[in-house]
Amino acid sequence: MQDVVEWLKDKGNLKVIDEPIDVELEIPHIAYIEVKKDNSRPLLFTKPINKAKGIEYDMPVLMNIFANKELTQKIFGKHPDQVAQGIDKLLKLKPPTKFIDKLKMISQLFALKNVFPKRSNSLGLCQEIVIPKEKVDLDKLPILKTWEEDGGAFITMGQVYTKSLDGGMQNLGMYRLQQYDKNHLGMHWQIHKDASHFFDQYQKAGKKMPVTVAIGGDPLYIWCGQAPMPHGMFELLLYGFVRGKNAQLVKSITNDIYIPKDVDIVIEGFVDPTKMAIEGPFGDHTGYYTLKEPYPIMEVETITMKEKPIFQATVVGKPPLEDKYMGWATERIFLPMLKPMTPELIDYYMPENGVFHNLILAKMKTLYKGHAQQFMHAFWGVGQMSFVKHAIFVNEDAPELEDDIAITEYILNRLDPQKILITQGIIDALDHTANESLVGGKLGVDATGKEVEDGVKSLLSDNDLLEKMQEIDRNILELKQYFTHTKNPICVILVNKVESMQNIIAKLKPLKEHIKLLVITDKTNNEIDNPYMLLWRVVNNIDAQRDVVLEPFIAIDGTNKSKLDGFNREWPKDTHCTKKVLDSLQERGLIDIDEKFIRKFGLLGFE
Ligand SMILES: Cc1cc2nc3c(=O)[nH]c(=O)nc-3n(C[C@H](O)[C@H](O)[C@H](O)COP(=O)(O)O)c2cc1C
Repeated sequence: MQDVVEWLKDKGNLKVIDEPIDVELEIPHIAYIEVKKDNSRPLLFTKPINKAKGIEYDMPVLMNIFANKELTQKIFGKHPDQVAQGIDKLLKLKPPTKFIDKLKMISQLFALKNVFPKRSNSLGLCQEIVIPKEKVDLDKLPILKTWEEDGGAFITMGQVYTKSLDGGMQNLGMYRLQQYDKNHLGMHWQIHKDASHFFDQYQKAGKKMPVTVAIGGDPLYIWCGQAPMPHGMFELLLYGFVRGKNAQLVKSITNDIYIPKDVDIVIEGFVDPTKMAIEGPFGDHTGYYTLKEPYPIMEVETITMKEKPIFQATVVGKPPLEDKYMGWATERIFLPMLKPMTPELIDYYMPENGVFHNLILAKMKTLYKGHAQQFMHAFWGVGQMSFVKHAIFVNEDAPELEDDIAITEYILNRLDPQKILITQGIIDALDHTANESLVGGKLGVDATGKEVEDGVKSLLSDNDLLEKMQEIDRNILELKQYFTHTKNPICVILVNKVESMQNIIAKLKPLKEHIKLLVITDKTNNEIDNPYMLLWRVVNNIDAQRDVVLEPFIAIDGTNKSKLDGFNREWPKDTHCTKKVLDSLQERGLIDIDEKFIRKFGLLGFE
């Protein structure tokens, strides 16, 4: 990381903050604001402190390293599309028939020798300092508390290395870890993730599971940790493939797990499958808190580090975040891996305000009736792609998927209730909307066909339509229509919710001549003219089976749910910054934001 910092100073526009700044809320708030700026910068906090605990840390905190697309590309050393092309070539390797093809293949296969991590039994740089069990103190690490209502401090960029019970598979996953005390961490590997599958094996065998968590080193390790590699494939193969050189691994001191030799900090320990503890709440990358839940506990056996380690961390909450840029690289690199199942897939895009699993747009060459439905089922059945709740498919003639306006017009002109599929499937463990956890509604839109014939019969102005609605229900407070020039204008209304929106939708049916697509959400914490955050809210807040109605117009209930809706779980709060902290940072010149910025990204709550 010391090398990375020098490199960032030279190539990454690193901002160094030498003032003492608190790891509780202050550092996270600064990083949260930075990542939302155009062309945001990586940040190095050289004097992290913890005022509440009276600690001055002796290592800096590096944040926002995936600060923008340009820097992400520099971290890869090439454009993610180039990595994708390499993978595509590999997947299409065929036995050579001509001599020249054989020669070409030799060079391709030779390059593969760099893919496999190399193990060494000598000590690594990351083991220059060894802290024995009795001296382990997690308070020596500048672990951040991001949000006021977080259950504590969390390691947010930990590379979690684990092994299957038979030792045959090794895994790297990026999972957050909650600090409980001096030597215990909450291990938040969700039920669908590889390390959780290994955990099941140890639990069944009644054995303690070794775990090693690494922090820092080459930033590409972190990207590999979040990459949705198929089960059983060690993520550091991808590291070797991208870098063109093998990951160099050394053995952990107290267990048999191998970790990159150049990481900054290593936390070794084990998880006892008979013990669980409450993890969370934690303000997550959905922009909502994940609620308290039992997760395994990691007991720390030893901590090792470099002589001058740097602590790497990230902050999550409402978009945009660093995961926008990591996710962009992931999206590009995994495109060829989706193609064997969906060969006519041309491209896909997961907008950051759809928080990845809440919205995907996919472009395909449509060959037959039902082709888009076939792809919906394929997506919902494949690895982590199966977490996607809402998938919209467009034909090859559609505009660029990232051209928000043009692609929305294209979709709205083809939106047909007959071509919307609502079904059920597995959902991300973080999803808060389904009546039960882990299984919920899926919505697929087939917009691959021709433009629909009928638009709105009688388009009214926003004021006239709102007036008509308010004659029916006074709790409808604001209205704005978007894309009125398309066949399916989006009519957004904000309500003061006192009953189920299904009642409101039923009451509004007489206005069907004026509405094609109605989107409802709460007045509190939403702004009618902020489509970026409205999209974030609505795709986050719906379970399509419960919240989408197709007749006589399409209606989407994006309000927060409660008993009024037959929803009996706890509905989580939004992640909001702490006003006092923002004010103090602003006064000290550490941030420079105005009311517009605060509202644009929903930094604070409002009525
Ligand atoms: C910033 C960030 C934080 C994450 N935190 C968690 C987490 O706490 N738990 C989890 O299961 N996945 C988390 N993920 C997602 C996983 O890293 C990702 O699903 C990864 O592919 C899991 O690897 P695995 O399939 O080897 O388990 C996080 C991703 C990012 C980018």
